[in-house]
Amino acid sequence: MSTFQAPKGTYDLLPPASAVYLAVRDAISAPLRTSGYGYVETPGFEDVELFARGVGESTDIVTKEMYTLTTKGGSELALRPEGTASVLRAALEANLHKAGNLPVKLWYSGSYYRYERPQKGRYRHFSQVGAEAIGTEDPALDAELIILADQAYRSLGLRDFRILLNSLGDKECRPVYREALQGFLRGLDLDEETRRRIDINPLRVLDDKRAEVRKQLVDAPLLRDYLCDACRAYHEEVRALLAAAGVGYEDDDRLVRGLDYYTRTTFEFVHDGLGAQSAVGGGGRYDGLSEMIGGPALPSVGWALGVDRTVLALEAEGITLALPAPVTVYAVALGEEARRLLFGVVTALRKAGIAADFSYGERGLKGHMKNANRSGARFTIVAGERDLAEGVAQLKDMESGEQSPVALDALVTEIGSRLG
Ligand code: HAM
Repeated sequence: MSTFQAPKGTYDLLPPASAVYLAVRDAISAPLRTSGYGYVETPGFEDVELFARGVGESTDIVTKEMYTLTTKGGSELALRPEGTASVLRAALEANLHKAGNLPVKLWYSGSYYRYERPQKGRYRHFSQVGAEAIGTEDPALDAELIILADQAYRSLGLRDFRILLNSLGDKECRPVYREALQGFLRGLDLDEETRRRIDINPLRVLDDKRAEVRKQLVDAPLLRDYLCDACRAYHEEVRALLAAAGVGYEDDDRLVRGLDYYTRTTFEFVHDGLGAQSAVGGGGRYDGLSEMIGGPALPSVGWALGVDRTVLALEAEGITLALPAPVTVYAVALGEEARRLLFGVVTALRKAGIAADFSYGERGLKGHMKNANRSGARFTIVAGERDLAEGVAQLKDMESGEQSPVALDALVTEIGSRLG
């Protein structure tokens, strides 16, 4: 071990487990890539103000969890705690919304940073795959995104997840509700900090997990009863489209998200095998965010799914993904001449698109065979001096155990045809 360890709240992804993370990212992005979403990549850090204004000055993410830094040039930056504000900033900066084809549909995958209290499923560095559909108000877009996330999770074999759905209203009806909620909350027996929250962000109080608070919230007014006609109709349409697609969901009147930009549709994917950190993904509509960061009105919707928690969900359901072995062929060369020849064969195999690895270093036959076994390769090629004298190598099928000599110059074609 070196003197150094990964920082608190972070962990390293190492083979073979790291292959599962790659497969999860692939599975989440696959339905997006076939639904018109283009790949976007933004910097790992942004102007701190982008998140303060976008995610919200009163959110935990902005007040407590951002990694901020001042550059030598005096710029105030923050490691990105989430992707939506950055992606919208990038779309606006490149004028993607002016190219004429709205919505602008984008997907992304990357690392995010939040200075949170670490626990299982909650890290300071984590990974998301996300999608944003920018510039169009259409309940079919909200439904599309939820359906694609559902499809992604199902393609991984996940079953024990639920979709929680709510509407947070818009700038017409939410303020009326907010006031009613504040009136109710002020009558409760709450601690100082929570009372302060009533003024700044009363909806977040509904999200309080403490039993003594939850008990008092039973009769809290519900946003559902305050939705304006337009929001109600919009929400009904999203629900109808989900139902028509056969995607099950639960109406959750109390679903409030930890980011301030949401309007109307909000949803969360929760997994029942994960304990406290049960949200594997979440998202919603953010019709006002563009204006909040200085852009034109661009009603938008999106989600981000947590890769780390999705991997934990797979473990909780006992799902082992059928991943191909990293290499198909492992070549073991005994002696200088064999090394040179088999190294050439390995190069040719790779060129032919067959994943192959080679017995590097001086380890002797036993050591090299151990590596070959460990690699999970379907075939091994072994060649020593006696084989070379006959112009062959021994090709072993590791599944059947069968071994036969194959002419050196026929190896690539022979393996290719055996693989079909
Ligand atoms: P979020 O709910 O903050 O939403 O994060 C989405 C997902 O990222 C969570 O459901 C969770 O799986 C994962 N996640 C968040 N924090 C952590 C953490 N500390 N450790 C491990 N996993 C974590 C957003 O980030 C929004 N930008 C989603 C969105 C996109 N809304 C509209 N568009």
